[in-house]
Amino acid sequence: MNVPDIIIAVDGYSSTGKSTLAKKIARKFGFLYLDSGALYRGVTLFAQEERLINKLGTVSPELQEALGSLDLHFDPEGRLCMGPRCIEQQIRSMEVSSQVSPVAAVPYVREWVDAKLHEFGRRGRIIMDGRDIGTAVFPDAQLKIFMTASEEVRAQRRYDELVAKGETPLLEEVVQNLRERDYIDSHRQTAPLRRAEDAFELDNSDMSFEEELAWVQGLIQGKFGIL
Ligand code: DC
Repeated sequence: MNVPDIIIAVDGYSSTGKSTLAKKIARKFGFLYLDSGALYRGVTLFAQEERLINKLGTVSPELQEALGSLDLHFDPEGRLCMGPRCIEQQIRSMEVSSQVSPVAAVPYVREWVDAKLHEFGRRGRIIMDGRDIGTAVFPDAQLKIFMTASEEVRAQRRYDELVAKGETPLLEEVVQNLRERDYIDSHRQTAPLRRAEDAFELDNSDMSFEEELAWVQGLIQGKFGIL
């Protein structure tokens, strides 16, 4: 398949299914998939392990310097690693989820992550998901998708995901975490979550995964003429 060098940005609220969709599109069209949220989660886990964040989510100023020695990268299967350690499972825990938004609101953390995303994204022909990919990281992305879904649907998805991983969350707690993250993500000063003006909006509250996929494939085929 002859696929041109293009960047697809998939942004949107927490638990709208961005990564599931982006991974599938990546496989189908031969793109590199990059999960920008994983890097914010990796920085959060690092801050927690180094005791550079307190219970209230306040980050110590020492984190800025400490980031200089932090090695986060993706292995060939797309799992996040910290140095030699695969941290994919830890970064998806409620403990990390509950502190990632305040960490992601810190401007120097965003700069650090953006530099990594640009480094990884140099290859072209990538699909990246996050909150500010189409507005701040790659504002020139050739295709931008903004995903939404009702809070109820998103909370249930997140809850099912955690249960499948063996965690025992309370649905209440999951709803609370989603609300807090959405609020912080869309109200922060630096690169807040918002739909880029030229993004196509996908509300998948009442859509099956197959329908979503067909919708995105239609966009890609219409825009780039690739099958
Ligand atoms: O997509 P996710 O739930 O794994 O993202 C975790 C957090 O990282 C999310 O609450 C906000 C932040 N994030 C961000 O600020 N900008 C991005 N491009 C991606 C994620």
